[in-house]
Amino acid sequence: MKESPITAAARLIREGQLVAFPTETVYGVGANALDSAAVERIYEAKGRPSASPLIVHVSSIEMARELLREWPGAADRLVQVFWPGPLTLVLPKSDRVPRRVTAGLDTVGIRMPNHSIALELIRESGVPIAAPSANRFSELSPTTAAHVRAALGDRVSMVLDGGPTQVGIESPVLSLAGPVAELLRPGMISQMQIEEVIGPIRVHATAPQAAHPSPGMHRKHYSPATRLLVVDGGILPQGRGAYLWIHEPAPAVRAIQMPADPHAYAARLYDVLHQLDSEGYDWIAVERPPSGMMWAGILDRLERASEP
Ligand code: TXA
Ligand code: MG
Repeated sequence: MKESPITAAARLIREGQLVAFPTETVYGVGANALDSAAVERIYEAKGRPSASPLIVHVSSIEMARELLREWPGAADRLVQVFWPGPLTLVLPKSDRVPRRVTAGLDTVGIRMPNHSIALELIRESGVPIAAPSANRFSELSPTTAAHVRAALGDRVSMVLDGGPTQVGIESPVLSLAGPVAELLRPGMISQMQIEEVIGPIRVHATAPQAAHPSPGMHRKHYSPATRLLVVDGGILPQGRGAYLWIHEPAPAVRAIQMPADPHAYAARLYDVLHQLDSEGYDWIAVERPPSGMMWAGILDRLERASEP
């Protein structure tokens, strides 16, 4: 009988190779998280500085706890509500997690993805899978298998194709390692949804000027090659450009109306930017999204992408 794609991928993971796979947020490029040499290949494939810690993906809470030194009550309450799903928790790591995964930090970022292919891959591999987004360093994250192939090509042994991802931007990263829970990266689970479960949290300033709280939280990130700007009130630069608008149309060579619902907007954003990037404009302008917690993750990515 012919091996199924997931079985083949799981074998490659056990052999120390790289496999790209879909999650509900973006595609990841994964390796056996317990194998330092395999993890090293991720950094090479991405062209990523070795000071950036990776997220470890698990298929059960038990698997997560084996990688951690502490499991606070807040973690328990959060995972009951949000796992499997787009929430990464940063917690003190156990000795099982190689330093290579955490870029030397004493903590590790962990999540259980809400995607059947990702979960089956982890289960069949029998090991936790370290995986950053499957793009070259500082470029746009992939939301389709085609994006992954264009960015990483034969730098990965295999790409599992699960169609377009549902959430569309990366998971929020919440640190539970300090005295106060702190949101290090916003996403489509909002501050308010987290606070409903564990009470008040601190939100790390995500303004582009802010210093990054952990190695790897670089200001410039998530960027198309074309210059991107966030604009107010439909004021567009000179030249041939593309304009993504929600409420206020403006004349541009290419104008695309984006959904007014934040979940639908996030699900489309990277695919639209990948497409426009390939069309060769002088700039891509994006109408500033509404304020409010549900848009915080989207605004964060747009601001980082527009860093010069
Ligand atoms: O949705 C996602 O999170 C995707 C999918 C593939 O799971 N992954 C992803 O990984 O976006 P990556 O490597 O592109 O982003 C990981 C983020 C970085 O901002 C990194 O600084 C933070 O998580 N992070 C990871 N481990 C950390 C730690 N121990 N302490 C603080 N931040 C950490
Ligand atoms: Mg990334």
